[in-house]
Amino acid sequence: MKKLKSLAFVGLLTLSLSAQNKVPLYLDESKPIEDRIEDALKRMTLEEKVAMCHAQSKFSSAGVSRLGIPDNWMTDGPHGIRPEVLWDEWNQAGWTNDSCIAFPALTCLAATWNPEMSMLYGKAIGEEARYRNKNVLLGPGVNIYRTPLNGRNFEYMGEDPHLASRMVVPYIHGVQSNGVAACVKHYALNNQEVYRHSINVNLSDRALREIYLPAFKAAVQEGKAWAIMGAYNLYKGQHCCHNQYLLNDILRDEWKFDGVVVSDWGGVYDTEQSAYNGLDMEFGTWTDGLTEGKSFAYNNYFLADPFLAQLRTGKIAESVVDNKVRNILRLTFRTNMNSKRPWGSFGTEEHALVGRKIAEEGIVLLQNKGNVLPIDLNKTKKILVVGENAIKVMVVGGGSSSLKAKHEISPLDGIKKRVGSSVDVVYARGYAGEKSKAQDGLATGQDIFDDRAESVLISEACEAAKTADAVIFVGGLNKNNGQDCESHDRSELGLPYGQDKVISALSKVNKNLVVVIISGNAVAMPWVKEVPSILQSWYLGSEAGNAIASILVGDANPSGKLPFTFAEKLNDYGAHALGEYPGEKGNVTYNEDIFVGYRWTEKQKIKPLFSFGHGLSYTEFAYGKASISSKNMGEKDILTVTVPVKNIGQLTGKEVVQLYIGDEKCSVPRPVKELKAFEKISLKAGQEKNVEFKISIDDLKFYDENKKEWVAENGKFKAYVGASSTDIKSVLDFELK
Ligand code: BGC
Repeated sequence: MKKLKSLAFVGLLTLSLSAQNKVPLYLDESKPIEDRIEDALKRMTLEEKVAMCHAQSKFSSAGVSRLGIPDNWMTDGPHGIRPEVLWDEWNQAGWTNDSCIAFPALTCLAATWNPEMSMLYGKAIGEEARYRNKNVLLGPGVNIYRTPLNGRNFEYMGEDPHLASRMVVPYIHGVQSNGVAACVKHYALNNQEVYRHSINVNLSDRALREIYLPAFKAAVQEGKAWAIMGAYNLYKGQHCCHNQYLLNDILRDEWKFDGVVVSDWGGVYDTEQSAYNGLDMEFGTWTDGLTEGKSFAYNNYFLADPFLAQLRTGKIAESVVDNKVRNILRLTFRTNMNSKRPWGSFGTEEHALVGRKIAEEGIVLLQNKGNVLPIDLNKTKKILVVGENAIKVMVVGGGSSSLKAKHEISPLDGIKKRVGSSVDVVYARGYAGEKSKAQDGLATGQDIFDDRAESVLISEACEAAKTADAVIFVGGLNKNNGQDCESHDRSELGLPYGQDKVISALSKVNKNLVVVIISGNAVAMPWVKEVPSILQSWYLGSEAGNAIASILVGDANPSGKLPFTFAEKLNDYGAHALGEYPGEKGNVTYNEDIFVGYRWTEKQKIKPLFSFGHGLSYTEFAYGKASISSKNMGEKDILTVTVPVKNIGQLTGKEVVQLYIGDEKCSVPRPVKELKAFEKISLKAGQEKNVEFKISIDDLKFYDENKKEWVAENGKFKAYVGASSTDIKSVLDFELK
């Protein structure tokens, strides 16, 4: 009997132990994710659900500690992993293990016109995020370049919806292959920084659909982004972070987005709108609670206690919070709770080399008269480098994308290192703009303050230039407020700090002058005819100097193409020509409509300084005659455009072959032509390749505002094959029947 009793006891114990050991459904990765979400949701209290919907620190939000569901950790984005800030403050936490690799700015990535570079970028930055235990990377940004004054253009991918779409998708795939969510931003219409919190953007549905949304749509539908960030501005009178039309109707209902909508930091204004209009997670709200220092200020967020109170009384149904939590749990299961995700790596040489490769492919050779570039080191004894940007720390600044990098090679150091001791590299300041030693809470560790008079700096540079074999001026913009920097816009297209005078003066004393512009925006170039060689370099990150040096001496052959139009003057951009920037009385109206960038200059027959898609090489490409598979196109047909391209120069090089389509006659105004495909090919000297593009009916469509759908009208079209939007090599006619 005793034996039987003890046997029964052992049996019970085993039973209850095995019940205890049984993995709860939400933790069982072999089960469908939606079942796991429902299981976790069932176990959560209302308070736990609400806690997930808002920040608990500057960059984190709560998980469910009782259930072992981890917190979510966000990081900027989009060019490197932001250094740790204090729990409740923007100030640096002062960690010593958070110095990242700074990758080139997204304008540079776009200028590579190479989706493979996007994949490399995304994978590498995702690895950095993963290693630092961040599960959401706040990037990439795909707001369209509407005006060259926008202080944040450097964080975006240019003026063309097709280019931005093709480039954003692989970035997202790369990031998310690490089990880190890409958070695409800023959805939508955040095309200026002036009045960014209060401006209501008015535009036609057509401009919205054709110009401003395609890259977001591609990010969601093709990139399968797991997160998206609402923009600060308003659309249809509602802030974009809780916008019925953008978030519920388009993002969720039309595009079937199943990820998390994160607010921009401080972009939330209302509990009910946040509850009902698509927002899942509220971040960065500056409630009174924070400034007054209440014990847990985050409880005062719109999606915190005020939300909870309305849920408790039943004013807001529990299903509303449940839907948000479903999205958040989906994010967590895809990232933090995916046991198969890789471990990541951080600050590695491999990542630095990825950055360098992208930088070298993104630098654009704008002009090279007399083949001053590449610099022939066998014939060079002395190089003069002039300009503040040759020595200035550039990864620091610009706002939220500011970085603490493990290393940053300046252009001057990069050049010195590359040319070695056989060439004398001399430096002259030329102009002095920098007045401070810190930016965005990060000390640059650099004191480059120089208060000598402008005339003294210029004559010093010109004296040195007289005896130099080559002069390299490195200037442009920087990431200080009012230049390429968040929160503000630039005030003019011109270069700051009197740089035009320095460049003109140098061009008079040395004919081997190279101007390197470092910027994320177009700048005016009144000296363009006086200067033989111009390189558009971007903010290139850790390896900036090495990349610039390798282009200058020809180790790398330039192959970048402009992702936006360099117009001669501000009024050559539609927004400015029509006086529709920056808006007034809380409203800005995009009256230029779909005519943004080259769509505007072509319509107005304006010759840009350097056109969209432009970029030279040290070798030369000959385009053969393009052909089209048929002159007629039916609705389901796919036409093929084929063009032979040959490298007829002496060096291996890469060329971006571009296909534009123009509609000859249509019931609505259409651009002369629009980019619909491109391909970057590498050719050895003498080598020839056929490039093939497919055209489907989708490439012919416009957004019909009456029908609220994409429509192609029968009639004649032209396919333009070119090396840029203005350097067209073949024009082919075809007809949609
Ligand atoms: C920026 C976002 C950024 C966030 C967090 C905001 O001011 O607009 O792009 O991700 O701050 O730093």
